[in-house]
Amino acid sequence: MVRFSSAQVLLTATLATFAQAAAVRWMPLGDSITDYGCWRAWIWERFQKEGYNVDLVGGEKAGENCNGLNFDRDHEGHPGFMAVDIVAKNQLVDWLKKNPADVVTMHLGTNDIFRGNRKTAEITAALGKLIDQMRESNAAMRIIVAQIIPLPTVDKQVQELNQAIPAWAASKNSTVSPIWVVDQWTNFTSADLKDGIHPSESGDVKMANKFYPALVHAIATLDGK
Ligand SMILES: *[C@@H]1O[C@H](CO)[C@@H](O)[C@H](O)[C@H]1NC(C)=O
Ligand SMILES: *[C@@H]1O[C@H](CO)[C@@H](O)[C@H](O)[C@H]1NC(C)=O
Repeated sequence: MVRFSSAQVLLTATLATFAQAAAVRWMPLGDSITDYGCWRAWIWERFQKEGYNVDLVGGEKAGENCNGLNFDRDHEGHPGFMAVDIVAKNQLVDWLKKNPADVVTMHLGTNDIFRGNRKTAEITAALGKLIDQMRESNAAMRIIVAQIIPLPTVDKQVQELNQAIPAWAASKNSTVSPIWVVDQWTNFTSADLKDGIHPSESGDVKMANKFYPALVHAIATLDGK
């Protein structure tokens, strides 16, 4: 029988307290690229392996079979949605009211370009309004914004948006509610798209690999979680 010193017992108790601490609530926000596919599942799986206590939140539930993984399916990915519409209809306010979050990943703009032919400035204005709403919901919201994956039919517009995102994000940045930009475009090839729009299996892996370190970094800035 192993005897534990009181220090070890205390340490064990402290670790147990941390393990039971509230999970970090992560809202994956976006369109069908967030709804379909398995990148959220691969991130969830890695959180489990590496001992992170993360609760995916949102009013949607993904139906994908991702290698039979029993992952947390909650998210806020809405197929076909444009950022400008989410703002016009004030939808994020309600989504966050129902499912508050500590961290949001935002992969939006694809439909604004593809369906709406919106200009870069209109899209960044909408993304900015969404960030304001995130902060109204949680003043310390950690925000991860994607430079979006390629869209071969209109990739010139995608690249223009992506090029505008870093400076725009820096202008919206704040110490209490930091924004981190994750480049989902670079290194993403047409083979990483299954239908010209949505990630294939290899695309899901790439998206997960890009978002994961940013999420881990965001979680590290949330004390005690
Ligand atoms: C925002 O500030 C944080 C530090 O608080 C920094 O890590 C991050 O890169 C900044 N984001 C942008 C888009 O400049
Ligand atoms: C680019 O993609 C390949 C897989 O096709 C991957 O092995 C590599 O790590 C990726 N590089 C970056 C910088 O993400």
